[in-house]
Amino acid sequence: MNVIVAVDRNWAIGRDGDQLVYISEDLKHFKALTLNHTVILGRKTLTTFPGGRPLKGRRNLILSRNPSFAPEGAEVFSDLETLLAAAPEDAFVIGGASVYAALLDFCDTAYVTKIGGRFPEADCFFPDLDARPEWQIAEEGPELEESGLKFRYVTYKRA
Ligand SMILES: NC(=O)c1ccc[n+]([C@@H]2O[C@H](COP(=O)([O-])OP(=O)(O)OC[C@H]3O[C@@H](n4cnc5c(N)ncnc54)[C@H](OP(=O)(O)O)[C@@H]3O)[C@@H](O)[C@H]2O)c1
Repeated sequence: MNVIVAVDRNWAIGRDGDQLVYISEDLKHFKALTLNHTVILGRKTLTTFPGGRPLKGRRNLILSRNPSFAPEGAEVFSDLETLLAAAPEDAFVIGGASVYAALLDFCDTAYVTKIGGRFPEADCFFPDLDARPEWQIAEEGPELEESGLKFRYVTYKRA
């Protein structure tokens, strides 16, 4: 499977239940990569989407232990095993922190948007792939900039 994430220099990914920052160019990049694929996410990340609704044009597999949680347009799974049995190989794990931590070992490609700043108020993180020898950089895009924020797309592959 694939994983896609936006991180700051400390591999931070969020604060107070929301993204650190929204970069519209990165949102387009995320859509282009995930459209027509399956996305896998945690119940808390769903709440950060517009209207708290699943992503259009994608099959949404959501993890939640709440048996009465049944959002329209999504499939809900209460455990990893059942979810993994339903997830196709080309699925994208799209967060949040708990779901990344649980499913990173099942992924072989990581699409990382590296944001060139530090957000000290961040409260959740992605594992530092640069500190994991099994993950190698396969492709590194040029530095981009939006509203004064520098960022770059980096693809890691499991060696
Ligand atoms: N920078 C990025 O690229 C990015 C991407 C996505 C999210 N984020 C950020 O990540 C943060 C959210 O991460 P989070 O870790 O707090 O929440 P999360 O992973 O989105 O969702 C956690 C919820 O998922 C369910 N869950 C997780 N593991 C499960 C399992 N093994 N079995 C069954 N259900 C499971 C539980 O739902 P129930 O409580 O309903 O049981 C749990 O409370 C936010 O700040 C968000 O903005 C950042």
